[in-house]
Amino acid sequence: MNAIIVYWSKTGNTKKVARAIEEGFREAGVDALLTRVEDAGDLDFFSYDLVCVGFPSYQWRVPKPMDEFLKTKFNAYRSQKRVIEGAPKLPGKNAVIFCTYSGPHTGIREAIPPVLYAAQFFEHLGFTILGEWYVVGEFHGSLEMSTMGRLGDIRGRPNEADLRAVKLDAIRVANMLKGKPGIP
Ligand SMILES: Cc1cc2nc3c(=O)[nH]c(=O)nc-3n(C[C@H](O)[C@H](O)[C@H](O)COP(=O)(O)O)c2cc1C
Repeated sequence: MNAIIVYWSKTGNTKKVARAIEEGFREAGVDALLTRVEDAGDLDFFSYDLVCVGFPSYQWRVPKPMDEFLKTKFNAYRSQKRVIEGAPKLPGKNAVIFCTYSGPHTGIREAIPPVLYAAQFFEHLGFTILGEWYVVGEFHGSLEMSTMGRLGDIRGRPNEADLRAVKLDAIRVANMLKGKPGIP
């Protein structure tokens, strides 16, 4: 089984989460490639059993570099006639979408739309979505957004506990795909 983790991160929160996922996969004995979206132009989703895509919520949307990546890939697959009506499931093709967010105004609802949107690219290609992971992240550069928002004081997030939870989720998904029981 092979996996790839593609992420975009401006201030490092999403990168930490991507690394925790990589660590979890590795611990579960799964080969995982970690790559920034900026370096992922040649990536073929269909070459992997599991594609993980991560980004921060920006204006409750997918940030532009990741959005453009997803759209470019999708358009290429569409022109190869790989986008089929009814989106039949492709056995062994799976995706996880993860998003970091500060939720200053409406909490997790600021991260749900971009995650569901990003997941659609994969579902349209026949991938099964195995996880939609939401991780709180400090709003670097804004003390107000990091302390006075809906989620309270989120400075230092994702913290060790957040990353441990992500790692366990990654291990659970990896074991599931390998046909092993969940958490070690
Ligand atoms: C330009 C900008 C827009 C943002 N918009 C939102 C938003 O709409 N909702 C939210 O919950 N967080 C928002 N955030 C906070 C980020 O999603 C959050 O801090 C994230 O963890 C940053 O990830 P990164 O460190 O990987 O770049 C925004 C941050 C920036 C810089």
